[in-house]
Amino acid sequence: MPGGTAREGMGPELTTTHEKQTHTTHAGLSAWVEQVAELTQPRDIRWITGSSEEWTELTDQLVESGTFVRLDESKKPNSFYCASDPTDVARVEDRTYICSAEEKDAGPTNNWMAPAQMKAIMTDLYRGSMQGRTMYVIPFVMGHIDAKEPMFGVEITDSAYVAVSMLVMARCGTTVLRAIEKTDADFVPALHSVGAPLAEGQDDVKWPCSDTKYIVHFPEERTIWSYGSGYGGNALLGKKCYALRIASAIARDEGWMAEHMLILKLTSPKGSVHYVAAAFPSACGKTNLAMITPTVPGWKAEMVGDDIAWMRFGEDGRLYAVNPEAGLFGVAPGTGHSTNPNAMATVGLGNSVFTNVALTDDGDVWWEGMTDEPPAHLTDWLGNSWTPADGEAGTKAAHPNSRFCTPIAQCPIAAPEYDSPDGVPIDAILFGGRRKSTVPLVYESRDWQHGTFIGATLSSETTAAATGAVGVVRRDPMAMLPFIGYHAGDYMNHWLEIGKSADASKLPRIFGVNWFRRDDEDGSFLWPGFGENSRVLKWVIERLEGNAEAVETPIGFVPTGSSLDVDGLDMTPEQVAKALKVDAADWEKELPLIQEWFEKFGDQLPAELWAEFDGLKARVSGH
Ligand code: GTP
Ligand code: MN
Ligand code: MN
Repeated sequence: MPGGTAREGMGPELTTTHEKQTHTTHAGLSAWVEQVAELTQPRDIRWITGSSEEWTELTDQLVESGTFVRLDESKKPNSFYCASDPTDVARVEDRTYICSAEEKDAGPTNNWMAPAQMKAIMTDLYRGSMQGRTMYVIPFVMGHIDAKEPMFGVEITDSAYVAVSMLVMARCGTTVLRAIEKTDADFVPALHSVGAPLAEGQDDVKWPCSDTKYIVHFPEERTIWSYGSGYGGNALLGKKCYALRIASAIARDEGWMAEHMLILKLTSPKGSVHYVAAAFPSACGKTNLAMITPTVPGWKAEMVGDDIAWMRFGEDGRLYAVNPEAGLFGVAPGTGHSTNPNAMATVGLGNSVFTNVALTDDGDVWWEGMTDEPPAHLTDWLGNSWTPADGEAGTKAAHPNSRFCTPIAQCPIAAPEYDSPDGVPIDAILFGGRRKSTVPLVYESRDWQHGTFIGATLSSETTAAATGAVGVVRRDPMAMLPFIGYHAGDYMNHWLEIGKSADASKLPRIFGVNWFRRDDEDGSFLWPGFGENSRVLKWVIERLEGNAEAVETPIGFVPTGSSLDVDGLDMTPEQVAKALKVDAADWEKELPLIQEWFEKFGDQLPAELWAEFDGLKARVSGH
């Protein structure tokens, strides 16, 4: 494990001979590991302990095999560059399945196959799939190990890259294993194979993977099977697969929420503290907002989480959010000293893995947007020699979905609460996407039901975070479209149920935001974004505190010309007005798109959301 990080003190390695042979006293876990080994035929089995010696051994081995390049110790200590196979660079949504017992429970937005059929296909794929490789068994917990109900998992993988990345992203190792054993706890079994067995004497490749990929969830069994990909979201199974898809199904059953949200702590100049959660689709600014450096004087921002929030009601009736992760798996391009200095400082401390970025000649990493000027020479993510002339010709040095994987504990603005078992009370929820037009910089919903409508109709232009076309507007409910582990109509209803079960005055207030609106004249971003988003956060907090003005529009409450703090901002009042504008003609065009989206769900779409739609329609057309 990287020195001095969240996993410190995760416990001693196994000692007694008996334990060394069987490794666990947990009968269910022991049987599952044996059964998987029998099927996949690994060369050997290794239980991940979380020790620093283990980290060194695994990373050394990855360097030796050519998968990792060790970065210069003086620039990025204990850190590694890694290039994937060019075909294995993002989540594969068309290969991702929710295999509920019944097809209707997966809903119209998920791929489905009957569990027995899927298991038959995948069992054939897994047969012998780990030959010639080490099988790693990784006990982990999502959220805090001291949580009231710790959420355990065990990932089995034949990828050392996955084992090392999991050590950064989740709380892993022997301490977790002991906790699972002590209470004979249930855990989510998460099986992963890169699907590239090695024959006797066969040389390995730097990034083993398979052309056949399956990312599969069995929500009733709380089980994950993943095959063929080594990429983060497909292979680090604690993250999207467990903490979102499986957890969302558990959360529906148990009355809580598993969401694709950052968690931010804000302290106003007066010293009042507010926690904000925000759901934006992949590559739409969560990690950046979670690490914001406010430009508004006197405001302080700290990060609790950058990607996933689990929210449960506390005894006081408020919604408390925890970040189930221990690491950041952030989009590298666009992360720079000017846009996100806190992310640069976090990775600057080392103990990180960089995948599909570019390598500098002096053993450091680079990606588009890190600095204004690229270095004179690089090795690009495909391994080719790269110069700024290539960049001008349109060849990117880093893949647009290249990522840094780094411990949260190293973030200079990590709030101490990121490591709290109880989480933080959420005051506001923001929904935002990437929209060139129509959606204003910020607007506030009237109430929880209206806010649920804003979330349920959230739309965004697609990005490189998933395979497929980029820049196409799609609906992405609560930024969870690729991550809902059940029927999306039921998921929207679950949001409404959460609202009904609570005291309305204690619920977070819900806002919509859009950092990505463009000028129709020159196509440039209307709003500078990044640190300047603190102006929007300030308005949000002032709304909560009852001292910011707003005008009511057909879609909700929008800042008045003077209530948004634009002091010192390099924008004309006309530009600010353009960013905030709610144009009835634009929304007229949006209505049929929303209607078409809702019609996908038939009877399963909650009536309350149709009522919200009718209300919007009436207000937009002015009657
Ligand atoms: P996942 O980790 O995939 O869930 O994505 P994310 O929501 O964390 O996205 P991230 O913060 O990494 O942002 C991705 C891209 O959005 C980067 O290219 C950023 O430069 C860009 N971005 C983030 N915030 C802003 C902003 O305020 N304005 C503009 N114009 N771009 C932004
Ligand atoms: Mn994400
Ligand atoms: Mn992110």
